[in-house]
Amino acid sequence: MRVGVLISGRGSNLQALIDAAKDPDYPAELVLVISNVPDVQGLDRAEEAGIPTCTIDHKNFPSREAFEAALNDALDGASVELLCNAGFMRLLTESFVSRWLNRHLNIHPSLLPAFKGLDTHARVLDAGARISGCTVHFVRAAMDDGPIVAQAAVPVLPDDTEEDLAARVLAAEHRLYPHALRLVASGQVSVDGERSAGMPQGP
Ligand code: GRF
Repeated sequence: MRVGVLISGRGSNLQALIDAAKDPDYPAELVLVISNVPDVQGLDRAEEAGIPTCTIDHKNFPSREAFEAALNDALDGASVELLCNAGFMRLLTESFVSRWLNRHLNIHPSLLPAFKGLDTHARVLDAGARISGCTVHFVRAAMDDGPIVAQAAVPVLPDDTEEDLAARVLAAEHRLYPHALRLVASGQVSVDGERSAGMPQGP
């Protein structure tokens, strides 16, 4: 399956997908990486891996719709079938989200539906949670909302700083995203109506 990735920065989750897709049996091929921020590390990672890249800077467009039309042109130009957000920091309109409905994944560094939004790890620590983690989900118009594909849990340790917790969760993200993309790209997980079909069907 032809996969496009949207990034805004460091691209360590992108790197995890690049590494997984090197396996000839992996069901997804990364065919385009788009950043909305120029000169980010994620673009270097994609170029290093020989994946076509482009920068579509939202600041150069008069509206969200115009920005998203440019995204769609680039994605269509590369015949992208499935889209992955990997540290992509722009909210997308209902219209873009419906065009990619159930063909669009996001990763978030918490156990959704808890702790949506930014500053996740600080809020997890403030809340005194003892378990955190990460979630890969299908994208919906509301932020960090949508049917869950897969989750991984990590402990929150008593003396954790925000950085400690972020690093532990990020390591889990790097294992989870390739796994979740495999499930979706191979058709083992799909969305049934408004609800996620969840994990592969049992007997
Ligand atoms: C990750 O923690 C991801 O869950 C969140 O933004 C961060 C992106 O990191 N949405 P990277 O760019 O993949 O290194």
